[in-house]
Amino acid sequence: MKASTKTCEVKIFPDVETLNRHAAALIVEIAAQALRAKDEFSVALAGGSTPESLYNLLASVEFKNKLDWSKTLVFFGDERGAAPGAAESNYRMANDALLARVPIPPENVFRLRGEIEPEKSAAEYEAIIKKTLGDDARFDLILLGMGDDGHTASLFPHTEALRETEKLVAANYVEKLNTNRLTLTFRAINQAKNVLFLVAGAKKAVAVKKVFDAETIDLPASLIKPEDGKCVWFLDKNAANLLKRF
Ligand code: 6PG
Repeated sequence: MKASTKTCEVKIFPDVETLNRHAAALIVEIAAQALRAKDEFSVALAGGSTPESLYNLLASVEFKNKLDWSKTLVFFGDERGAAPGAAESNYRMANDALLARVPIPPENVFRLRGEIEPEKSAAEYEAIIKKTLGDDARFDLILLGMGDDGHTASLFPHTEALRETEKLVAANYVEKLNTNRLTLTFRAINQAKNVLFLVAGAKKAVAVKKVFDAETIDLPASLIKPEDGKCVWFLDKNAANLLKRF
């Protein structure tokens, strides 16, 4: 299968600080567009460690007032099988770094419940997304990271959720981690209006090269191809250092 990320734009930055500043500016721009169009901005946050510094920047005096938090709807792209206060919870990371530090109404934050039975949580979240965004369930923005194995959200190589074509949210058992995850599906991500990957660090370089340089690829991150949305990869130079054509 052709690498679908050829439809995605790539921007390479000298360091994570510069990457984060451009990402924050892009998020502000996308939010402003959404507010002009429909007076609300829906965003699904990425988990893991990379976005934490971006979330801190968005909560800073420099950026926090550039978003209208009363009209911002925050969702999560995936969640671990953990309670919201657990160290590994993506909600806990985003809440500590951002949500607890900005004036977002609690009812605007839609937590993906990692602490309950996975299938139940996935169905519950799908209903919340449809109720909140409407049946077309198009996020204005989905932030994504990528693991060094090419997973994105909790769409890991060789897992069941990769085959899900109808649902928006899936419970996904990840054998290599011996854990249940919850994740937006390719369908949910590929119907978003904007998808922004944030990938930094030398340990991602091999996966980045596979995503962009290989002709046939089966990494989940390569299959992110928004039908009629924009997709851009923000890479720091370390993550991009094996790329030939940028
Ligand atoms: C998660 C994330 C996951 C993450 C990648 C990269 O729950 O772990 O949603 O998809 O984006 O694993 O993680 P790092 O940013 O920590 O490298």
